[in-house]
Amino acid sequence: MLHLLSILALTGISTASAASTCKSYPNTPSWPSRAKWDSLNSTVSGRLIAAIPPAASCHKKFKNTSTYDPVKCELVTANWGEQDSSFNHPVGVLWDFWTNITCLPTTNPEERCSLGTYPEYVINATTVENVQAGVNFARLNNVRLVIKNTGHDFMGKSTGAGSLSIWTHHFKEIEIIDSYSDPSTTYNGSAVTLGSGWQTASIYNALDVVGKVIVGGECAGVGFSGGYIQGGGHGPLSPLHGMAVDNVLQFKLVTADGLYKTADAHNNSDLFWALRGGGGSSWGVVTSVTVKTFPTPMVSGAVIELHYDQTTPEIFWEGINIFHSFAPQYAEAGIYGYYEINANSFLLKPLLATGKTTSELTEILSPLFTSLDTLGVPYTANITTYPTFLSGYNSLFDGEAAGLNMFTSSRLILHEHVIANHTAVTQAFRLTTEAGLGIIGHLVAPGQFGGVLEETSLNPIWKTGLLLPLYNHFWLGNETDSDFWEGLDLIADVDAAFKEVSPGSGTYVNEANAYDPDWAKEYYGASYERLLRIKKDVDPHGVFYARTAVGSELWAEANGRLCRA
Ligand SMILES: Cc1cc2nc3c(=O)[nH]c(=O)nc-3n(C[C@H](O)[C@H](O)[C@H](O)COP(=O)(O)OP(=O)(O)OC[C@H]3O[C@@H](n4cnc5c(N)ncnc54)[C@H](O)[C@@H]3O)c2cc1C
Ligand SMILES: *[C@@H]1O[C@H](CO)[C@@H](O)[C@H](O)[C@H]1NC(C)=O
Ligand SMILES: *[C@@H]1O[C@H](CO)[C@@H](O)[C@H](O)[C@H]1NC(C)=O
Ligand SMILES: *[C@@H]1O[C@H](CO)[C@@H](O)[C@H](O)[C@H]1NC(C)=O
Ligand SMILES: *[C@@H]1O[C@H](CO)[C@@H](O)[C@H](O)[C@H]1NC(C)=O
Ligand SMILES: *[C@@H]1O[C@H](CO)[C@@H](O)[C@H](O)[C@H]1NC(C)=O
Ligand SMILES: *[C@@H]1O[C@H](CO)[C@@H](O)[C@H](O)[C@H]1NC(C)=O
Ligand SMILES: *[C@@H]1O[C@H](CO)[C@@H](O)[C@H](O)[C@H]1NC(C)=O
Ligand SMILES: *[C@@H]1O[C@H](CO)[C@@H](O)[C@H](O)[C@H]1NC(C)=O
Ligand SMILES: *[C@@H]1O[C@H](CO)[C@@H](O)[C@H](O)[C@H]1NC(C)=O
Repeated sequence: MLHLLSILALTGISTASAASTCKSYPNTPSWPSRAKWDSLNSTVSGRLIAAIPPAASCHKKFKNTSTYDPVKCELVTANWGEQDSSFNHPVGVLWDFWTNITCLPTTNPEERCSLGTYPEYVINATTVENVQAGVNFARLNNVRLVIKNTGHDFMGKSTGAGSLSIWTHHFKEIEIIDSYSDPSTTYNGSAVTLGSGWQTASIYNALDVVGKVIVGGECAGVGFSGGYIQGGGHGPLSPLHGMAVDNVLQFKLVTADGLYKTADAHNNSDLFWALRGGGGSSWGVVTSVTVKTFPTPMVSGAVIELHYDQTTPEIFWEGINIFHSFAPQYAEAGIYGYYEINANSFLLKPLLATGKTTSELTEILSPLFTSLDTLGVPYTANITTYPTFLSGYNSLFDGEAAGLNMFTSSRLILHEHVIANHTAVTQAFRLTTEAGLGIIGHLVAPGQFGGVLEETSLNPIWKTGLLLPLYNHFWLGNETDSDFWEGLDLIADVDAAFKEVSPGSGTYVNEANAYDPDWAKEYYGASYERLLRIKKDVDPHGVFYARTAVGSELWAEANGRLCRA
């Protein structure tokens, strides 16, 4: 078993002891009394939930009781790999890694289940008042606060030991606006206001009905108004319209003082800047966001698979290298790409050309096909045109997994690096798969060839970003501690290789190595200093904390307990 204890040792965090410098913790005198929790529960109209881990039904020992229910357990086990089981559960998160691995599905009900890094209580919030009650309770009682929307976070930022969690999944308001009107902006085009529980595919569906689209993510279940957009948000339409944050007109949120605020170009403009790229769980609990919408375009998509032959791996990798050599041209043509590479597979699904016909995309890709033919790389390709963004999205993007003991890192490779050095870039990809890691590559250039980047807090490296490989290490769960360290070391080695081919760049705040000691610089780049100033101003007591969030260096987590560093 892998222990959170050991994970935390890695960060070099020392144990702070004075109670006053720590958040209150369960089973210590500072923890709020039962009466206080009951009173919070009545303030939120009975919407307070005592957290029970999603796999508790597989265990006879949880706290001082049995939560064992073989029928439920079977269901939970069967659905553990489904993302829905995390969205729809008050404390479920996608990646087991961040739960402390202390309550997984099991066939041995005698195995103890403990909360680990799951929160103690959850407010199933549906109103601004519910959120205010939670924020005020956490601040006044010095309780650690977490915010969970879908639980997608790769850095475990939507869960935390000994905490009260605000669950935003049920904020489902939507307002479709034909012409936006607000004195804070000259924009008068179409827009949509979305409550913070909305997820990508449902938004694409709801807007398709009125012939509109937004810049959203590629994965159906990712939340939109939570971590995704506050971290920047890249997606299939980014080559045309920039990152999701570039399209924000307004946020509504509850800040650390418990006040409900509007942040836009005129109101709370510092906060507005910070919310557009400075990361989730830092500035307040966002309850809704208003973004620009665009008429839905027709799209063409290519699906390209390179076939691996174990007798000629060089040819397979040269095929990938050829694709990388063309990548800058595709970005210049406004094309987005999503590709998966494992040791013996390459699937580019899709290369999405918005507003282009099959024949236009075929023409753009013909030099690639010629090169692959010349080199003798076996491949299959299929190019199809769809009348709307949604129809293309539904055919061209696959669902994704959950319930894995997985650790993620990534690197943003700039346009200039691919131009100057695509062979070295491909070599770093190869090293990654040879180390046993899977790669998800994004070809996404939001800021150079049509997509407009606004003045936001997004890491400025995105202005010339081109390729974002995300690489994952998996454990099965039965490894020893040393296997665990080896996994993290492998990730660090791969990071080093990618840093070498993309000097001076950084990574994406939502998809990064949570243990990178240089996270502040790598995630936020030149924006960090101003972000930290704003953080100290709007949240002086650190009501909002998450690992690698702005200002998190002021805190240290020791076996789950959060103390001043
Ligand atoms: C399968 C998969 C596909 C992905 N695809 C993309 C993609 O195409 N493009 C892209 O840019 N990213 C993508 N991501 C990364 C994604 O943007 C992040 O995982 C993001 O954090 C998810 O946000 P969430 O609110 O859904 O998740 P959560 O895990 O619930 O929250 C993430 C963070 O935001 C905070 N937060 C949540 N809601 C709020 C709120 N209302 N107010 C303030 N803070 C809040 C949480 O506390 C946490 O810190 C993907 C991730 C996965 C797992
Ligand atoms: C909160 O109140 C509701 C309704 O009275 C109750 O069902 C629920 O168990 C309470 N939550 C906690 C944590 O006590
Ligand atoms: C279990 O502990 C809770 C408090 O933590 C207590 O209220 C409850 O009575 C206990 N149940 C049993 C069966 O001991
Ligand atoms: C995580 O698990 C380890 C052992 O499995 C345990 O010692 C530690 O207390 C747990 N941490 C939390 C926050 O529960
Ligand atoms: C949370 O609230 C929503 C909306 O009221 C409700 O449908 C859902 O059942 C609640 N979930 C839990 C676990 O209480
Ligand atoms: C909307 O903006 C355009 C230019 O950006 C302008 O021509 C038009 O008059 C505006 N419409 C309204 C109703 O303000
Ligand atoms: C936002 O600011 C404008 C003036 O700049 C003001 O008229 C308006 O009331 C403010 N709105 C909110 C919700 O604070
Ligand atoms: C190409 O893709 C489309 C859509 O997925 C599918 O209907 C068609 O059969 C595919 N054609 C070939 C030759 O694979
Ligand atoms: C771990 O489990 C997997 C299958 O779940 C098995 O193949 C492997 O041999 C196990 N490893 C050890 C060290 O037990
Ligand atoms: C290309 O990448 C290698 C690392 O593999 C690096 O040493 C070299 O400096 C890079 N060259 C350029 C022109 O960026």
